[in-house]
Amino acid sequence: MLQTPSWWQTSVIYQIYPRSFFDSNGDGIGDLAGITRKLDYLRWLGVDALWLSPMYPSPMADFGYDIANYVDVDPIFGTLHDMDVLIEQAHARDLKLILDYVPNHTSDEHPWFQESRASQENEKRDWYIWRDPSPDGGPPNNWTSFFGGSAWQFDEQTGQYYLHLFDVKQPDLNWRNPLVREAMYDVLRFWLDRGVDGFRVDVLWMLIKDEQLRDNPSNPDWKPGDPPVLSQFRQYSEDQPEVHNIIREMRSLLDSYGERVFIGEIYLPIPRLMQYYGETLDETHLPFNFQLVTNPTWEARAIRQIVDEYENGLPDGAWPNWVLGNHDRPRIATRVGREQARVAQMLLLTLRGTPTCYYGDELGMLNGYVPRELLYDPAGKDNPEHSRDYERTPMQWDGSTNAGFSTPGVTTWLPVAEDYQTYNVTAEQQDPRSFLALTCTLLNVRRSLAALTIGSYQSFDQDNSTCFVYQRQHEGTRYLVALNFSAQEQVVKLDENGQGRVLISTHLDREDSVRLSEIHLRGNEGLLIQREE
Ligand code: GLC
Repeated sequence: MLQTPSWWQTSVIYQIYPRSFFDSNGDGIGDLAGITRKLDYLRWLGVDALWLSPMYPSPMADFGYDIANYVDVDPIFGTLHDMDVLIEQAHARDLKLILDYVPNHTSDEHPWFQESRASQENEKRDWYIWRDPSPDGGPPNNWTSFFGGSAWQFDEQTGQYYLHLFDVKQPDLNWRNPLVREAMYDVLRFWLDRGVDGFRVDVLWMLIKDEQLRDNPSNPDWKPGDPPVLSQFRQYSEDQPEVHNIIREMRSLLDSYGERVFIGEIYLPIPRLMQYYGETLDETHLPFNFQLVTNPTWEARAIRQIVDEYENGLPDGAWPNWVLGNHDRPRIATRVGREQARVAQMLLLTLRGTPTCYYGDELGMLNGYVPRELLYDPAGKDNPEHSRDYERTPMQWDGSTNAGFSTPGVTTWLPVAEDYQTYNVTAEQQDPRSFLALTCTLLNVRRSLAALTIGSYQSFDQDNSTCFVYQRQHEGTRYLVALNFSAQEQVVKLDENGQGRVLISTHLDREDSVRLSEIHLRGNEGLLIQREE
């Protein structure tokens, strides 16, 4: 059992996409001062830590995941001073601040790359991954970019190709070069010295590539139109054994600053994901667990299986975590519908481990409608359906023009979602049964019950295949969570005696007593039940 939990074990993390959170200066794009203005809302909501997607100077080819300077703030978002104020004001409210750290690639406009591409002899040439053309003049191997096409770009001036696993404007750094490692560790120190509480590390499992750059095996089932990322098995371009040494180095750097959190963005199947905790738990604290995001079906049995498999796969002492949405995936309310999204929210906030909530999901925000001519995300350049712009529309603060995100009359960088007049913070704060009210209630109850934050997890066998039931327990106190994944009324029969009291229904309209042997759930209802011992 967990004795003295660290802050990141009992916290709920809230992801902010800075472009879309709050625009304080009326240019149609969110900024750091805007986030500072909304800290009281976040405190009220009841989250504990904020993770900011990148706010560094960037040509914005991938909206900030293409960084031209790791130790400053893009003028669109403000200044370093604004960042210092944000850190200070967040801390004053007991909120932690986690930055996005993007070590796999820089922008092609980063001075390191400008030097590196100047000549084959440049002292920074080896900071990136340059190779001669293959004998037929084509790219050095068959690797494809996540955004489509070859992962190699030919440079006329120096006659070699450089590697970019993402956009052509995102050249991959060569992490085998110790000078790159040192320079990138200095970046971590820079922000830790300014007081940030940790990092979410972008595509951590890709940092090191096969030394011989061997071809990846193709995926025979891939067809044109499928996401380019699925066109091959990335056997040689990611998840290489050498990456773990680097992760350990990063971790010990973070540890030298005290209790700072190290989160890794890692999309891998459960057994391979678990390796990123490290053999002696000396790697990431939280390798992001995307099982609820990547699982194609929203179905009680499948979800139970995922949760159990993940729980059982955790190394001894490793702390779990759950993610329901982020800036790369369609919003949960769009994926499963708004009614089921309430059930999903109860799941996220009652499972064991640190949850991460994507901004706006607390309101039940849907993906927005973005006309084709406004789509900008490189992931959608070959196929608009794969664009991630839809899940990045502005936060819906109120029912006024621009949803209170920006000054009325200003054109916002992406249009606000169409139903913002009904689904926004102000309207939902006034409705005791709103999605926001549910999120807030779940967060408050989670915080007040040790069973939900640090208690054990155990799922129940029962016959109703449309429901998922589990127990959270801490010392003598036990809570049941019963989730109905269907729109129809369901009965769950448990081999249990005794009564329980409903603490929260996702419909927010009952606090009755129930018999545990036969729990009745309305359509799309989830219940958190306190067992009466
Ligand atoms: C991560 C980010 C994504 C970005 C990519 C390249 O997956 O979450 O938004 O496009 O890395 O940096």
